Amino acid sequence: MNPVAPAAEVADLVSRRPAGQSLQAPFYVDEEFFTLDIEAVFARHWLFVAAEAELPEPGDYVTVTLGSYSVIVVRDDDEGVRAFHNVCRHRGARILDEGRGSVGNIVCGYHRWTYGVDGRLLHAESQAPGFAPSCFSLRSVHARTVAGLVFICLAEEPPADFDEVAARIEPYLAPHNLAKAKVATQIDLVEHGNWKPTMENNRECYHCTGPPELQTCYFPIYGYAEQDVPPALRPAYERFQRADADARATYESLGLPYAAIEGLDTRATGFRIQREPLDLAGESFTPDGTAACTRLLADFPTARLGRRSFHLQPNAWFHFLADHAITFAVIPLGPDRTLVRTTWLVHADAVEGLDYDLDTLTKVWKATNEQDAVFVNRYVTRLKAHLEQKR
Ligand code: FES
Repeated sequence: MNPVAPAAEVADLVSRRPAGQSLQAPFYVDEEFFTLDIEAVFARHWLFVAAEAELPEPGDYVTVTLGSYSVIVVRDDDEGVRAFHNVCRHRGARILDEGRGSVGNIVCGYHRWTYGVDGRLLHAESQAPGFAPSCFSLRSVHARTVAGLVFICLAEEPPADFDEVAARIEPYLAPHNLAKAKVATQIDLVEHGNWKPTMENNRECYHCTGPPELQTCYFPIYGYAEQDVPPALRPAYERFQRADADARATYESLGLPYAAIEGLDTRATGFRIQREPLDLAGESFTPDGTAACTRLLADFPTARLGRRSFHLQPNAWFHFLADHAITFAVIPLGPDRTLVRTTWLVHADAVEGLDYDLDTLTKVWKATNEQDAVFVNRYVTRLKAHLEQKR
């Protein structure tokens, strides 16, 4: 059982949280703070929930649970993506129990109220004269797609700055043609820790110099200003400079934007995006840096495009390469349980065993996620022990 902080303590800690520093321990372990996170963060902001490739056909759906909210994200008959509260308009039953699937209509198992994939109530038995089905459509949740990625927002009025964010990120993402990709595989990892250290680890890039699998792909100079690079890393720095110059020339010749755009602290929809070279062969996240999939995502003349990395607060990060893309969705399940859903996307016509091998494709980030999960658990376990002593 997780500790429950009194409401006054929650309000006090929130009001006194120092800017630019780590939050205090209760933010990472207490039930009350988890509830607050859902309402203040996850119910108000745009969230990444799926790649469009997870919903290739009309009626394909995924469900997403966030605290007391459950949302159906479904491909409609016009091939758009819609989202609805997963709550029947009859007596409020949960409608779809599975995490994903495909339906003709959305049918509540309790009394068989039947909704179209556009949310309209199509059938309800034994209703009183004058019953107006049009008044009982499923309640909508805001949904939109950007370059093959699906986002939802539970707020009645979503943060307005997402339009600007979408306009800025789309030129970085669109060349990878993600709307025409397919899911090679997806791995759900439940971390035994709070969602905040999961996101912090990614943003702060602790693992850039940690997991050996990832370290081989990144130049080992991450975080160093030129004047601070230690002598032992000068050769790596010079290798990076050469690769960076080559990469910029390639990006410019192909019209691929690469400059970093960072808007993490000053806006409702915090994000960071850039394109940069990878070490070794510079093509992909594989042990030797060569492409994991011989069929590239788009008609690129080279696989050596490095990585286009994109971090989106509060719950996602992404890597787009020439040969595949990886999406990471972070879904809080409880104060000390967090789902990290990682999806590997390849060209729709790529063939497993011929164009790609799943082990090679997933090796680097599967290992990195597993190592991160250990760090998150270690961190939260220590915080819990600290709080128990204190209380
Ligand atoms: Fe869904 Fe009755 S609660 S049909």
